[in-house]
Amino acid sequence: MLDKLIISQLREIVGNKNVRLSDEDLTDYGMDRTTIWTADPSVVVLPGCVAEVQKVVIFANEYKLAIVPSGGRTGLSGGAVAKDGEIVVAMDRINQIFDFNKVDCIVSVGAGLITNKLQEFAAGQNLFYPVDFASSGSSQIGGNIATNAGGINVIRYGMTRQWVAGLVVVTGCGEILHLNKGLIKNNTGYDFRHLFIGSEGTLGLICEATIRLTRPKGASTVIVLGIDSFPIILEVLKAFSAEINLTAFEFFSQVALDKVINFQGHNAPFKTKAPFYALLEFESSEGSVLDTGLRLFDECMDKGWVLDGVMSQSLRQAESLWKLREDISETLWQYEPFKNDISVLMSRMPEFIKSVEIIIEQKYPYFELVWYGHIGDGNLHLNILKPENLTSAQFVERCSNFSKVLGELIAKYGGSVSAEHGVGLLKKDVLHYSRTEAEIKLMCEVKKVFDPNGILNPGKLID
Ligand code: MLT
Ligand code: ZN
Repeated sequence: MLDKLIISQLREIVGNKNVRLSDEDLTDYGMDRTTIWTADPSVVVLPGCVAEVQKVVIFANEYKLAIVPSGGRTGLSGGAVAKDGEIVVAMDRINQIFDFNKVDCIVSVGAGLITNKLQEFAAGQNLFYPVDFASSGSSQIGGNIATNAGGINVIRYGMTRQWVAGLVVVTGCGEILHLNKGLIKNNTGYDFRHLFIGSEGTLGLICEATIRLTRPKGASTVIVLGIDSFPIILEVLKAFSAEINLTAFEFFSQVALDKVINFQGHNAPFKTKAPFYALLEFESSEGSVLDTGLRLFDECMDKGWVLDGVMSQSLRQAESLWKLREDISETLWQYEPFKNDISVLMSRMPEFIKSVEIIIEQKYPYFELVWYGHIGDGNLHLNILKPENLTSAQFVERCSNFSKVLGELIAKYGGSVSAEHGVGLLKKDVLHYSRTEAEIKLMCEVKKVFDPNGILNPGKLID
Protein backbone atom coordinates (compact mmCIF):
# COMPACT_ATOMS: atom_id res chain seq x y z
CA MET A 1 0.00 0.00 0.00
CA LEU A 2 1.34 3.42 -0.96
CA ASP A 3 1.28 6.10 1.69
CA LYS A 4 -1.38 8.79 1.68
CA LEU A 5 1.01 11.51 0.55
CA ILE A 6 1.86 9.62 -2.63
CA ILE A 7 -1.80 8.98 -3.41
CA SER A 8 -2.66 12.63 -2.87
CA GLN A 9 0.17 13.74 -5.18
CA LEU A 10 -1.06 11.36 -7.88
CA ARG A 11 -4.54 12.85 -7.41
CA GLU A 12 -3.10 16.28 -7.98
CA ILE A 13 -1.58 15.14 -11.28
CA VAL A 14 -4.51 13.26 -12.84
CA GLY A 15 -7.53 14.46 -10.82
CA ASN A 16 -9.26 12.86 -7.89
CA LYS A 17 -11.59 10.53 -9.76
CA ASN A 18 -8.80 9.26 -11.99
CA VAL A 19 -6.96 7.64 -9.11
CA ARG A 20 -8.61 4.32 -8.38
CA LEU A 21 -8.14 2.26 -5.25
CA SER A 22 -11.17 -0.03 -5.05
CA ASP A 23 -10.49 -3.78 -4.90
CA GLU A 24 -12.45 -4.20 -8.10
CA ASP A 25 -10.35 -1.66 -10.01
CA LEU A 26 -7.09 -3.03 -8.62
CA THR A 27 -8.04 -6.55 -9.71
CA ASP A 28 -9.38 -5.52 -13.12
CA TYR A 29 -6.53 -3.23 -14.04
CA GLY A 30 -3.85 -5.46 -12.57
CA MET A 31 -4.48 -8.40 -14.93
CA ASP A 32 -4.44 -9.35 -18.58
CA ARG A 33 -6.06 -12.52 -19.97
CA THR A 34 -3.55 -14.83 -18.27
CA THR A 35 -4.72 -16.67 -15.15
CA ILE A 36 -1.39 -17.66 -13.62
CA TRP A 37 -0.69 -14.56 -11.49
CA THR A 38 -2.73 -12.62 -8.95
CA ALA A 39 -3.28 -8.90 -9.45
CA ASP A 40 -1.89 -6.80 -6.63
CA PRO A 41 -1.16 -3.23 -7.75
CA SER A 42 -1.17 -0.37 -5.21
CA VAL A 43 -3.13 2.08 -7.28
CA VAL A 44 -4.54 2.65 -10.76
CA VAL A 45 -4.12 6.07 -12.38
CA LEU A 46 -5.77 7.23 -15.58
CA PRO A 47 -3.96 10.22 -17.06
CA GLY A 48 -5.88 12.31 -19.58
CA CYS A 49 -3.01 13.58 -21.77
CA VAL A 50 0.68 13.16 -22.55
CA ALA A 51 1.67 15.91 -20.11
CA GLU A 52 -0.05 14.05 -17.26
CA VAL A 53 1.67 10.79 -18.24
CA GLN A 54 4.98 12.64 -18.13
CA LYS A 55 4.24 14.03 -14.66
CA VAL A 56 3.34 10.54 -13.37
CA VAL A 57 6.59 9.09 -14.75
CA ILE A 58 8.71 11.88 -13.27
CA PHE A 59 6.94 11.42 -9.94
CA ALA A 60 7.46 7.63 -10.03
CA ASN A 61 11.18 8.18 -10.70
CA GLU A 62 11.45 10.50 -7.73
CA TYR A 63 9.98 7.90 -5.37
CA LYS A 64 11.39 4.86 -7.26
CA LEU A 65 7.91 3.45 -7.79
CA ALA A 66 7.30 0.80 -10.45
CA ILE A 67 4.77 1.46 -13.22
CA VAL A 68 2.82 -1.12 -15.21
CA PRO A 69 1.36 0.36 -18.41
CA SER A 70 -2.12 -0.88 -19.15
CA GLY A 71 -4.16 -0.95 -22.35
CA GLY A 72 -7.12 -3.22 -23.08
CA ARG A 73 -5.53 -6.01 -20.99
CA THR A 74 -6.21 -8.62 -23.63
CA GLY A 75 -2.57 -9.82 -23.57
CA LEU A 76 -1.74 -13.50 -23.29
CA SER A 77 1.76 -13.38 -21.78
CA GLY A 78 1.39 -11.46 -18.53
CA GLY A 79 2.91 -8.28 -19.99
CA ALA A 80 0.27 -6.10 -18.28
CA VAL A 81 0.12 -8.00 -14.99
CA ALA A 82 0.73 -5.85 -11.89
CA LYS A 83 1.39 -8.31 -9.07
CA ASP A 84 3.90 -6.47 -6.89
CA GLY A 85 2.32 -3.26 -5.64
CA GLU A 86 3.01 -1.23 -8.80
CA ILE A 87 1.22 1.86 -10.09
CA VAL A 88 -0.93 0.85 -13.05
CA VAL A 89 -1.02 3.62 -15.63
CA ALA A 90 -4.07 2.98 -17.80
CA MET A 91 -4.50 4.78 -21.10
CA ASP A 92 -8.32 4.54 -21.26
CA ARG A 93 -8.82 8.33 -21.21
CA ILE A 94 -6.30 9.08 -23.96
CA ASN A 95 -8.59 7.55 -26.55
CA GLN A 96 -9.29 10.37 -28.99
CA ILE A 97 -8.98 10.47 -32.76
CA PHE A 98 -7.01 13.71 -32.98
CA ASP A 99 -6.26 14.31 -36.59
CA PHE A 100 -6.95 12.66 -39.93
CA ASN A 101 -5.04 13.53 -43.06
CA LYS A 102 -6.64 12.21 -46.23
CA VAL A 103 -3.72 13.14 -48.49
CA ASP A 104 -1.20 11.16 -46.45
CA CYS A 105 -3.74 8.53 -45.38
CA ILE A 106 -2.67 8.83 -41.75
CA VAL A 107 -4.61 9.32 -38.56
CA SER A 108 -3.31 10.35 -35.14
CA VAL A 109 -4.98 8.66 -32.20
CA GLY A 110 -4.65 8.27 -28.45
CA ALA A 111 -3.06 5.04 -27.21
CA GLY A 112 -6.29 4.14 -25.40
CA LEU A 113 -8.39 4.03 -28.58
CA ILE A 114 -10.07 0.63 -28.94
CA THR A 115 -8.89 -1.20 -32.06
CA ASN A 116 -12.32 -1.59 -33.64
CA LYS A 117 -13.00 2.14 -33.21
CA LEU A 118 -10.01 2.80 -35.44
CA GLN A 119 -11.27 0.18 -37.90
CA GLU A 120 -14.70 1.86 -37.92
CA PHE A 121 -13.17 5.31 -38.35
CA ALA A 122 -11.10 4.07 -41.30
CA ALA A 123 -14.17 2.47 -42.91
CA GLY A 124 -16.03 5.78 -42.51
CA GLN A 125 -13.30 7.42 -44.61
CA ASN A 126 -13.56 4.62 -47.17
CA LEU A 127 -10.19 3.35 -45.94
CA PHE A 128 -9.01 0.28 -44.03
CA TYR A 129 -7.01 -0.46 -40.89
CA PRO A 130 -6.02 -4.06 -41.53
CA VAL A 131 -4.72 -5.26 -38.17
CA ASP A 132 -7.52 -7.45 -36.83
CA PHE A 133 -8.05 -10.19 -34.26
CA ALA A 134 -10.79 -11.60 -32.06
CA SER A 135 -10.07 -9.11 -29.25
CA SER A 136 -10.34 -5.99 -31.46
CA GLY A 137 -13.46 -4.94 -29.52
CA SER A 138 -11.47 -4.42 -26.32
CA SER A 139 -7.75 -4.21 -27.16
CA GLN A 140 -6.26 -0.73 -27.37
CA ILE A 141 -3.99 0.70 -30.06
CA GLY A 142 -1.21 1.49 -27.58
CA GLY A 143 -1.19 -2.10 -26.28
CA ASN A 144 -1.21 -3.43 -29.84
CA ILE A 145 1.85 -1.32 -30.59
CA ALA A 146 3.62 -2.24 -27.37
CA THR A 147 3.22 -5.92 -28.28
CA ASN A 148 3.43 -5.53 -32.08
CA ALA A 149 0.16 -7.42 -32.34
CA GLY A 150 -0.43 -9.72 -35.32
CA GLY A 151 -3.79 -11.33 -35.99
CA ILE A 152 -5.57 -12.83 -38.96
CA ASN A 153 -4.49 -10.58 -41.83
CA VAL A 154 -0.71 -10.73 -41.40
CA ILE A 155 -0.07 -12.85 -44.49
CA ARG A 156 -1.25 -9.94 -46.64
CA TYR A 157 -0.92 -6.82 -44.47
CA GLY A 158 1.84 -7.52 -41.94
CA MET A 159 1.94 -6.91 -38.19
CA THR A 160 1.07 -3.71 -36.28
CA ARG A 161 4.63 -2.43 -36.84
CA GLN A 162 3.91 -1.97 -40.53
CA TRP A 163 1.11 0.55 -39.83
CA VAL A 164 2.79 2.76 -37.25
CA ALA A 165 3.90 5.97 -38.94
CA GLY A 166 4.63 7.92 -35.79
CA LEU A 167 4.61 7.70 -32.00
CA VAL A 168 4.48 10.03 -29.03
CA VAL A 169 6.06 8.29 -26.06
CA VAL A 170 7.14 9.20 -22.56
CA THR A 171 10.39 7.41 -21.78
CA GLY A 172 11.26 5.92 -18.41
CA CYS A 173 13.22 9.14 -17.72
CA GLY A 174 10.11 11.23 -18.31
CA GLU A 175 11.16 12.68 -21.66
CA ILE A 176 8.49 13.15 -24.33
CA LEU A 177 9.61 11.89 -27.75
CA HIS A 178 7.76 12.65 -31.00
CA LEU A 179 9.00 9.86 -33.26
CA ASN A 180 8.85 9.89 -37.07
CA LYS A 181 5.78 12.20 -37.29
CA GLY A 182 3.98 10.25 -40.00
CA LEU A 183 6.78 10.38 -42.57
CA ILE A 184 7.26 7.62 -45.13
CA LYS A 185 10.92 8.43 -45.73
CA ASN A 186 13.08 9.52 -42.85
CA ASN A 187 16.67 8.29 -42.95
CA THR A 188 18.05 10.27 -40.04
CA GLY A 189 19.76 7.61 -38.01
CA TYR A 190 18.27 5.22 -35.49
CA ASP A 191 14.51 4.90 -35.84
CA PHE A 192 13.50 4.77 -32.16
CA ARG A 193 9.87 4.28 -33.15
CA HIS A 194 10.69 0.67 -33.98
CA LEU A 195 12.39 0.14 -30.61
CA PHE A 196 9.17 1.03 -28.82
CA ILE A 197 7.05 -1.21 -31.04
CA GLY A 198 7.06 -4.61 -29.34
CA SER A 199 8.97 -3.34 -26.28
CA GLU A 200 6.12 -4.38 -23.96
CA GLY A 201 6.11 -1.17 -21.95
CA THR A 202 9.69 -1.65 -20.74
CA LEU A 203 11.19 1.45 -22.40
CA GLY A 204 8.44 4.04 -22.39
CA LEU A 205 4.72 4.67 -22.28
CA ILE A 206 3.14 4.92 -25.72
CA CYS A 207 0.66 7.82 -25.46
CA GLU A 208 -0.28 8.63 -29.05
CA ALA A 209 0.27 7.04 -32.43
CA THR A 210 0.04 8.07 -36.06
CA ILE A 211 -1.40 5.16 -37.98
CA ARG A 212 -1.28 4.56 -41.70
CA LEU A 213 -4.50 3.47 -43.37
CA THR A 214 -4.95 1.76 -46.72
CA ARG A 215 -7.51 1.05 -49.46
CA PRO A 216 -10.45 -1.06 -48.29
CA LYS A 217 -10.36 -4.78 -48.88
CA GLY A 218 -12.74 -5.89 -51.63
CA ALA A 219 -15.45 -8.50 -51.16
CA SER A 220 -13.83 -11.72 -49.98
CA THR A 221 -14.39 -15.42 -50.39
CA VAL A 222 -13.62 -17.90 -47.62
CA ILE A 223 -12.80 -21.55 -48.17
CA VAL A 224 -12.60 -24.19 -45.43
CA LEU A 225 -10.93 -27.48 -46.33
CA GLY A 226 -10.74 -30.70 -44.31
CA ILE A 227 -7.22 -32.13 -44.56
CA ASP A 228 -5.82 -35.46 -43.53
CA SER A 229 -2.28 -34.58 -42.48
CA PHE A 230 -0.30 -31.51 -41.60
CA PRO A 231 2.19 -31.58 -44.53
CA ILE A 232 -0.75 -31.48 -46.95
CA ILE A 233 -1.89 -28.16 -45.46
CA LEU A 234 1.38 -26.70 -46.67
CA GLU A 235 0.88 -28.20 -50.16
CA VAL A 236 -2.52 -26.48 -50.27
CA LEU A 237 -0.97 -23.22 -49.11
CA LYS A 238 1.72 -23.47 -51.81
CA ALA A 239 -0.85 -24.19 -54.52
CA PHE A 240 -3.12 -21.28 -53.57
CA SER A 241 -0.48 -18.68 -52.83
CA ALA A 242 1.28 -19.38 -56.16
CA GLU A 243 -1.76 -17.98 -57.96
CA ILE A 244 -3.80 -15.86 -55.55
CA ASN A 245 -2.96 -13.06 -53.10
CA LEU A 246 -4.37 -14.64 -49.97
CA THR A 247 -5.60 -12.32 -47.23
CA ALA A 248 -5.60 -15.15 -44.66
CA PHE A 249 -4.45 -18.74 -44.37
CA GLU A 250 -5.36 -20.17 -40.97
CA PHE A 251 -5.60 -23.69 -39.62
CA PHE A 252 -7.18 -25.55 -36.71
CA SER A 253 -7.49 -29.14 -35.57
CA GLN A 254 -10.60 -31.29 -35.22
CA VAL A 255 -10.17 -31.04 -31.44
CA ALA A 256 -10.41 -27.23 -31.70
CA LEU A 257 -13.41 -27.43 -34.02
CA ASP A 258 -15.28 -29.88 -31.77
CA LYS A 259 -14.85 -27.62 -28.76
CA VAL A 260 -15.96 -24.50 -30.66
CA ILE A 261 -19.03 -26.27 -32.03
CA ASN A 262 -20.00 -27.66 -28.62
CA PHE A 263 -19.42 -24.44 -26.73
CA GLN A 264 -20.58 -21.81 -29.23
CA GLY A 265 -23.30 -23.82 -30.97
CA HIS A 266 -21.87 -23.18 -34.46
CA ASN A 267 -22.50 -25.59 -37.33
CA ALA A 268 -19.71 -27.79 -38.66
CA PRO A 269 -18.44 -26.57 -42.07
CA PHE A 270 -19.40 -29.95 -43.63
CA LYS A 271 -20.27 -33.49 -42.52
CA THR A 272 -16.88 -35.14 -43.10
CA LYS A 273 -14.50 -34.96 -40.15
CA ALA A 274 -10.80 -34.28 -40.70
CA PRO A 275 -7.77 -34.13 -38.38
CA PHE A 276 -7.03 -30.59 -39.64
CA TYR A 277 -8.88 -27.75 -41.30
CA ALA A 278 -7.43 -24.93 -43.39
CA LEU A 279 -9.29 -21.63 -43.70
CA LEU A 280 -8.30 -19.47 -46.67
CA GLU A 281 -9.55 -16.04 -47.59
CA PHE A 282 -8.97 -13.97 -50.72
CA GLU A 283 -10.45 -10.92 -52.38
CA SER A 284 -12.80 -12.09 -55.07
CA SER A 285 -14.37 -8.92 -56.47
CA GLU A 286 -12.71 -9.75 -59.80
CA GLY A 287 -14.49 -12.73 -61.37
CA SER A 288 -11.22 -14.18 -62.66
CA VAL A 289 -9.85 -14.59 -59.11
CA LEU A 290 -12.98 -16.44 -58.09
CA ASP A 291 -12.58 -18.74 -61.12
CA THR A 292 -8.97 -19.41 -60.13
CA GLY A 293 -10.07 -20.12 -56.54
CA LEU A 294 -12.67 -22.58 -57.75
CA ARG A 295 -10.19 -24.31 -60.05
CA LEU A 296 -7.62 -24.64 -57.26
CA PHE A 297 -10.32 -25.95 -54.93
CA ASP A 298 -11.21 -28.65 -57.51
CA GLU A 299 -7.55 -29.49 -58.11
CA CYS A 300 -6.96 -29.99 -54.39
CA MET A 301 -9.96 -32.34 -54.32
CA ASP A 302 -8.78 -34.24 -57.41
CA LYS A 303 -5.31 -34.72 -55.95
CA GLY A 304 -6.88 -36.30 -52.90
CA TRP A 305 -5.39 -33.59 -50.67
CA VAL A 306 -8.72 -32.57 -49.33
CA LEU A 307 -11.30 -34.78 -47.63
CA ASP A 308 -14.10 -32.25 -47.99
CA GLY A 309 -14.47 -28.50 -48.42
CA VAL A 310 -16.79 -25.55 -48.64
CA MET A 311 -16.53 -22.20 -50.40
CA SER A 312 -18.57 -19.25 -49.09
CA GLN A 313 -21.42 -18.06 -51.31
CA SER A 314 -22.34 -14.98 -49.28
CA LEU A 315 -20.88 -12.55 -46.77
CA ARG A 316 -22.96 -14.23 -44.08
CA GLN A 317 -21.55 -17.65 -44.87
CA ALA A 318 -18.01 -16.23 -44.96
CA GLU A 319 -18.55 -14.72 -41.51
CA SER A 320 -19.88 -17.97 -40.05
CA LEU A 321 -16.90 -19.89 -41.42
CA TRP A 322 -14.56 -17.34 -39.84
CA LYS A 323 -16.26 -17.85 -36.47
CA LEU A 324 -15.06 -21.46 -36.43
CA ARG A 325 -11.51 -20.13 -36.26
CA GLU A 326 -11.93 -16.85 -34.41
CA ASP A 327 -13.94 -18.29 -31.51
CA ILE A 328 -11.32 -20.91 -30.61
CA SER A 329 -9.39 -18.72 -28.19
CA GLU A 330 -12.48 -17.62 -26.24
CA THR A 331 -13.80 -21.20 -26.15
CA LEU A 332 -10.60 -22.59 -24.67
CA TRP A 333 -10.51 -20.28 -21.62
CA GLN A 334 -12.76 -22.67 -19.71
CA TYR A 335 -9.95 -25.30 -19.84
CA GLU A 336 -7.27 -23.02 -18.29
CA PRO A 337 -5.09 -23.34 -21.39
CA PHE A 338 -1.33 -22.92 -21.25
CA LYS A 339 -0.59 -20.96 -24.41
CA ASN A 340 2.40 -21.51 -26.62
CA ASP A 341 2.80 -19.11 -29.53
CA ILE A 342 5.53 -20.43 -31.77
CA SER A 343 6.90 -19.59 -35.17
CA VAL A 344 9.17 -21.63 -37.41
CA LEU A 345 9.86 -21.41 -41.11
CA MET A 346 6.94 -22.97 -42.95
CA SER A 347 9.25 -25.36 -44.76
CA ARG A 348 10.28 -26.83 -41.38
CA MET A 349 6.84 -26.97 -39.85
CA PRO A 350 5.77 -30.54 -40.64
CA GLU A 351 8.99 -31.96 -39.18
CA PHE A 352 8.75 -29.62 -36.19
CA ILE A 353 5.15 -30.58 -35.39
CA LYS A 354 6.02 -34.25 -35.66
CA SER A 355 8.86 -33.82 -33.17
CA VAL A 356 6.54 -31.98 -30.75
CA GLU A 357 3.98 -34.76 -30.99
CA ILE A 358 6.61 -37.43 -30.28
CA ILE A 359 7.78 -35.55 -27.17
CA ILE A 360 4.19 -35.19 -25.95
CA GLU A 361 3.45 -38.87 -26.57
CA GLN A 362 6.57 -40.01 -24.72
CA LYS A 363 6.76 -37.54 -21.84
CA TYR A 364 3.40 -35.81 -21.45
CA PRO A 365 0.73 -38.28 -22.62
CA TYR A 366 -1.81 -36.76 -20.22
CA PHE A 367 -1.74 -33.35 -21.98
CA GLU A 368 -4.62 -32.56 -24.30
CA LEU A 369 -3.25 -30.47 -27.16
CA VAL A 370 -5.18 -28.04 -29.30
CA TRP A 371 -3.39 -26.85 -32.43
CA TYR A 372 -4.49 -23.80 -34.40
CA GLY A 373 -2.91 -20.70 -35.77
CA HIS A 374 -1.86 -18.50 -38.62
CA ILE A 375 -0.17 -21.14 -40.69
CA GLY A 376 0.42 -18.76 -43.60
CA ASP A 377 2.65 -16.71 -41.25
CA GLY A 378 4.48 -19.75 -39.86
CA ASN A 379 2.69 -19.15 -36.53
CA LEU A 380 1.40 -22.07 -34.48
CA HIS A 381 -0.72 -21.66 -31.35
CA LEU A 382 -0.21 -24.79 -29.31
CA ASN A 383 -2.63 -24.73 -26.39
CA ILE A 384 -2.31 -27.31 -23.64
CA LEU A 385 -5.53 -27.89 -21.69
CA LYS A 386 -5.43 -28.53 -17.96
CA PRO A 387 -6.30 -32.11 -17.05
CA GLU A 388 -8.92 -32.26 -14.32
CA ASN A 389 -6.73 -34.31 -11.97
CA LEU A 390 -3.98 -31.64 -11.77
CA THR A 391 -4.22 -28.49 -9.67
CA SER A 392 -3.58 -25.21 -11.49
CA ALA A 393 -0.15 -24.93 -9.85
CA GLN A 394 0.85 -28.49 -10.80
CA PHE A 395 -0.34 -27.91 -14.34
CA VAL A 396 1.61 -24.65 -14.75
CA GLU A 397 4.73 -26.33 -13.36
CA ARG A 398 4.52 -29.18 -15.85
CA CYS A 399 3.77 -26.81 -18.71
CA SER A 400 6.74 -24.65 -17.75
CA ASN A 401 8.96 -27.75 -17.87
CA PHE A 402 7.48 -28.64 -21.22
CA SER A 403 8.15 -25.07 -22.44
CA LYS A 404 11.86 -25.67 -21.86
CA VAL A 405 11.81 -28.90 -23.87
CA LEU A 406 9.82 -27.09 -26.55
CA GLY A 407 12.25 -24.18 -26.39
CA GLU A 408 15.15 -26.51 -27.16
CA LEU A 409 13.28 -27.82 -30.16
CA ILE A 410 12.42 -24.29 -31.31
CA ALA A 411 16.10 -23.35 -31.04
CA LYS A 412 17.05 -26.44 -33.07
CA TYR A 413 14.61 -25.41 -35.79
CA GLY A 414 15.66 -21.74 -35.69
CA GLY A 415 12.18 -20.58 -34.64
CA SER A 416 10.73 -18.15 -32.12
CA VAL A 417 9.23 -18.80 -28.68
CA SER A 418 6.84 -15.91 -29.25
CA ALA A 419 5.47 -15.23 -32.69
CA GLU A 420 2.90 -12.60 -31.81
CA HIS A 421 1.78 -12.67 -28.15
CA GLY A 422 4.98 -11.23 -26.70
CA VAL A 423 7.22 -12.43 -23.87
CA GLY A 424 5.86 -10.69 -20.76
CA LEU A 425 6.20 -12.88 -17.67
CA LEU A 426 5.17 -16.08 -19.36
CA LYS A 427 8.09 -16.56 -21.73
CA LYS A 428 10.90 -14.66 -20.06
CA ASP A 429 12.54 -17.91 -18.94
CA VAL A 430 12.55 -19.33 -22.45
CA LEU A 431 13.58 -16.17 -24.28
CA HIS A 432 17.15 -17.47 -24.54
CA TYR A 433 15.98 -20.25 -26.86
CA SER A 434 15.25 -17.58 -29.47
CA ARG A 435 17.67 -14.77 -28.61
CA THR A 436 21.36 -15.10 -27.84
CA GLU A 437 23.00 -14.10 -24.57
CA ALA A 438 24.61 -11.17 -26.38
CA GLU A 439 21.24 -10.00 -27.68
CA ILE A 440 19.58 -10.24 -24.26
CA LYS A 441 22.48 -8.31 -22.72
CA LEU A 442 22.03 -5.59 -25.33
CA MET A 443 18.30 -5.47 -24.58
CA CYS A 444 19.18 -4.85 -20.90
CA GLU A 445 21.60 -2.09 -21.92
CA VAL A 446 18.96 -0.46 -24.14
CA LYS A 447 16.49 -0.57 -21.27
CA LYS A 448 19.00 1.22 -19.03
CA VAL A 449 19.26 4.06 -21.56
CA PHE A 450 15.51 4.70 -21.73
CA ASP A 451 14.61 3.68 -18.18
CA PRO A 452 17.71 4.11 -15.98
CA ASN A 453 15.85 3.56 -12.71
CA GLY A 454 14.14 0.44 -14.03
CA ILE A 455 10.66 1.69 -13.10
CA LEU A 456 8.85 0.67 -16.29
CA ASN A 457 7.18 -2.74 -16.29
CA PRO A 458 9.98 -4.31 -14.24
CA GLY A 459 10.38 -8.08 -14.59
CA LYS A 460 8.66 -8.24 -17.99
CA LEU A 461 10.53 -9.45 -21.07
CA ILE A 462 13.96 -9.18 -19.38
CA ASP A 463 15.30 -8.86 -15.84
C1 MLT B 1 -5.57 -16.28 -32.01
O1 MLT B 1 -4.90 -16.45 -33.01
O2 MLT B 1 -6.70 -16.77 -31.87
C2 MLT B 1 -5.03 -15.39 -30.95
O3 MLT B 1 -3.66 -15.18 -31.08
C3 MLT B 1 -5.42 -15.77 -29.55
C4 MLT B 1 -4.92 -17.08 -29.06
O4 MLT B 1 -3.93 -17.60 -29.54
O5 MLT B 1 -5.52 -17.61 -28.14
ZN1 ZN C 1 -3.00 -15.60 -33.06
